[in-house]
Amino acid sequence: MTRWSKIAVVGAGAIGGSLAQRLAEADLADELVIVDIVEGLPQGKALDIEQSAPLLGFTTRVSGSTELSDMAGASLVALTAGFARKPGMSRSDLLGKNAGIIRAHAEAIKRFAPKSIVLVVTNPVDVMAHLVKQVTEFPREHVIAESGALDSARFRLFVARELQVAPSDVIAFVMGTHGDTMVPIISHCSVRGVPLTELMPKEKIDAIVQRTKNGGAEIVNLLKSGSAYFAPSAAQLEMVTAMARNERKLLSASVELQGEYGQSGIFLSVPTILGSEGLAKIVETPLSAEEQRLLGESAKAVRQDVNLLETLPK
Ligand code: 2OP
Repeated sequence: MTRWSKIAVVGAGAIGGSLAQRLAEADLADELVIVDIVEGLPQGKALDIEQSAPLLGFTTRVSGSTELSDMAGASLVALTAGFARKPGMSRSDLLGKNAGIIRAHAEAIKRFAPKSIVLVVTNPVDVMAHLVKQVTEFPREHVIAESGALDSARFRLFVARELQVAPSDVIAFVMGTHGDTMVPIISHCSVRGVPLTELMPKEKIDAIVQRTKNGGAEIVNLLKSGSAYFAPSAAQLEMVTAMARNERKLLSASVELQGEYGQSGIFLSVPTILGSEGLAKIVETPLSAEEQRLLGESAKAVRQDVNLLETLPK
């Protein structure tokens, strides 16, 4: 099976740690390095993960470092550094706090891992991906943000529980931004090809759409001091696996649009094919008039945040 020689996870917090564990267990690279500024944290998490290798059978070597230069040689850098939400905060409320962190890390990625694919995870993710692309000047194929795959998983789970079917049998895309204006695409949602609209009344679908939009906040409110990480890292794993193994999976990912779906110059989640080159293709599929309108609202919300980003000190 194909695998990369090196993956770097930047940020050893809850998401970074969980992602590093999943990546090591999936045996996607010869070497995995976790980088964080807090002395001891990346080294400790790396050693803890690596000690499970004899039990779980993976061979990836896992190390931790406080040196950003240790991401050198990575085929993929997962950028998870930054602050998470607290109850009552929107993801956009993190923009001011996280922009400086992401800018500094994007400069380091450009310097030390200039050929890498960057998987952006830090919120507000579609805007942070915009910033990474701006700073690194990487081709759009190499800057991909995780949001649609997670939002789609939440939507698929809620549909599956309502219909009492296997969660993996529910096929669905959530498009747009990772925020209140995300757009679960009902017209393309099915249980193995059987349209959702034939299986569930509109009021139930509407309630699931609402719960999906609130999916991250529901967990923040429960945890009180942090945000979700198990499902986010599972969504990231699906994306990294698609690229590391050149699976060419069709999944929702946030990428820079250049005219697709009528939008340009902003990151939004759309159906994409991911492969060893990163973004292999954006799949354009007809949406209902209402879905198209809602996607426009989503784009407007991202543009507002991008404009805010431009006003921040560099
Ligand atoms: C979430 O939706 C962390 O943004 C992430 O849970």
